[in-house]
Amino acid sequence: MNIYLIGFMGCGKTSVGEILAKKLGYTFIDTDQHIENKYNETVSSIFSREGESKFREYEKEALIDLKKIDNSIIATGGGMPCSDANIKTIKESGISIYLKLDSKSLVNRVSNSSQPRPLTIGKSKEQLLDLFIELLAVREPYYNQADIIVNVIGLKMKEVMAKIDSYMQK
Ligand code: S3P
Repeated sequence: MNIYLIGFMGCGKTSVGEILAKKLGYTFIDTDQHIENKYNETVSSIFSREGESKFREYEKEALIDLKKIDNSIIATGGGMPCSDANIKTIKESGISIYLKLDSKSLVNRVSNSSQPRPLTIGKSKEQLLDLFIELLAVREPYYNQADIIVNVIGLKMKEVMAKIDSYMQK
């Protein structure tokens, strides 16, 4: 069985995923990393050279690739679950967990992160807030289809893990 971590960029999918994988003895997979390895190109370069729509095609393919594996924690790119086809594939292939965070906290986290994210390049905090509010409105209907929704606002990592643990016992 696989566990998919879904949610907006900056919500903590990678950090939570790595800890959860260690705890369960699962393999940790990051879908951006999978795409970068498969095409031998960074996500930033794919966006600038081939455009966002090509990246979304690669994401769709990556989900199909990952359907074949087992016992993995899969941290998905923020936009990956946001199509009917992709959320369907995710739901058919394992348990999905949405790490839910408000737009302001997401902006703070993303602007303090060194991870290059093509959608945020060159934007001020105010512009990021507008963009995140807009994107969240489009994306949440997909994120909300997750099997488990964990509200991580104001929680420390230990508390997030405890919450996930208690949901998974149910
Ligand atoms: C994206 C999120 C990124 C990455 C790409 C696009 C998005 O992943 O896939 O930059 O559209 O939200 P993270 O959510 O891991 O930052």
